[in-house]
Amino acid sequence: MKELKDYVVTIPDFPEPGIMFRDVTSILADAEGLKLAIDSLQKLLEGIDFDIIAGTESRGFIFGMPLAYNLHKPFVLIRKKGKLPRETVSETYDLEYGQATIEMHTDSVKPGQKVVLVDDLIATGGTIEAAAKMIERLGGEVVKMVFVMELAGLNGRKRLEDKGYSVDSAIIYEGK
Ligand code: PRP
Ligand code: MG
Repeated sequence: MKELKDYVVTIPDFPEPGIMFRDVTSILADAEGLKLAIDSLQKLLEGIDFDIIAGTESRGFIFGMPLAYNLHKPFVLIRKKGKLPRETVSETYDLEYGQATIEMHTDSVKPGQKVVLVDDLIATGGTIEAAAKMIERLGGEVVKMVFVMELAGLNGRKRLEDKGYSVDSAIIYEGK
């Protein structure tokens, strides 16, 4: 039987020489791969008590929303700057080159609510840490962070676990 890892196509030297790009579209392009990805993430959430699933634009939406639907929880969109129409809270974080800002509606998480964060990939952990900071500023508690893929060589997990977060990934790649 095929494992989730078998559906990931790796493209060497994209977007630049030396980078092994793990392509999530190849999972989604196969009905079995897609099902396995959602089922695998859902397994990582077994036994966890939470109120909300939040996903980070854009690939976090793809994997977060089906989980919210299956588990009958609300889904909160954490968007790139300038997209949300109502009052927002925002957080700026470092990318390899430059910075990025993400936002969420201030009323999307209420004080005391337990939130699960979902994304396709954890690399440095910068995106998800920024998302967690916003949720905490709104009074929410991040009870779990789940990813389809983890690039262990970039130490994102350590960065987050050192801050007390619980991190899990369906696939772990040892490199960068
Ligand atoms: C990618 C990926 C994660 C993030 C991981 O998103 O989808 O969200 O980077 O990197 P980090 O752990 O170092 O923060 P990207 O910002 O490329 O945007 P996209 O999801 O819209 O493609
Ligand atoms: Mg992303």
